[in-house]
Amino acid sequence: MEATGSAPLRDVYEEQYSAGGEDGARYGRWRALCAEGKADHVVRLAAGLDRPPRVVAEVGCGDGVLLELMAGSGLGDAHLGYEISEKAVSIATDRLGPGVVERFDGEHLPVADRAFDLGVLSHVLEHVPDPVPLLRETARASRAVVVEVPLEDNRAASRPGAERGRQAIGHLHRFNRGDIHVMCAAAGLRVAAELSDPLPLKVHTFFADTAAARIRAVAKAVVRRGVYVISEKAAERSFTVHYACLAVPQ
Ligand SMILES: C[S@@+](CC[C@H](N)C(=O)[O-])C[C@H]1O[C@@H](n2cnc3c(N)ncnc32)[C@H](O)[C@@H]1O
Repeated sequence: MEATGSAPLRDVYEEQYSAGGEDGARYGRWRALCAEGKADHVVRLAAGLDRPPRVVAEVGCGDGVLLELMAGSGLGDAHLGYEISEKAVSIATDRLGPGVVERFDGEHLPVADRAFDLGVLSHVLEHVPDPVPLLRETARASRAVVVEVPLEDNRAASRPGAERGRQAIGHLHRFNRGDIHVMCAAAGLRVAAELSDPLPLKVHTFFADTAAARIRAVAKAVVRRGVYVISEKAAERSFTVHYACLAVPQ
């Protein structure tokens, strides 16, 4: 696990969620598109639980779009979200109604042990300077936890341009799969099931605004999918895939 950079963290997220105009709308659509795959991952992993989760809580739920999609897919019948960004809480509340998403300090969840059947930490741990305490706190509050992160300990994400991009969006760590196993163990969890995803074509092409950019994006998506099909390990060493696991108490 490689840690890089640092920024006034909360401000980074307030700014990201406050973008207005066409840029803000576009990023909203981007988050919604990415949330489709994330929701699918959580649903697939949750199928491995002894019984379907009733209370599902997302820690670091951002604008609430993933929480909405999980609810829409029938996962759980009570949904809660926790977020550090005031602006994100406000967007999520517009989306999900009052009393669903609450602001918290990023360290302590205001609930009893095992209050949630399933806790979800999706694309959050790479944003947290010391991720294990937040994972441990989520594990305390949950009977099981789904963790999803981008695996960025790879050649493509090491390039200077990619590094600048990662820092701009607040990624402080470049995880590999083993890092997540180690962090789960440190938080008193074991990985019961896992999956990875080289991401669909529509994600790769989302920001391709010209014909040339679209051709490059399609080529990249096809090559990446091909490498991934041949060897997940080779893919993880070469470029970023999304990784999700179901972690349960040891
Ligand atoms: C990339 S977004 C992910 C949002 C959502 N979970 C998803 O997967 O679509 C990262 C989120 O983590 C939140 N975050 C950053 N540090 C956090 C912390 N210590 N505790 C909880 N959330 C945090 C940010 O405010 C931001 O909303």
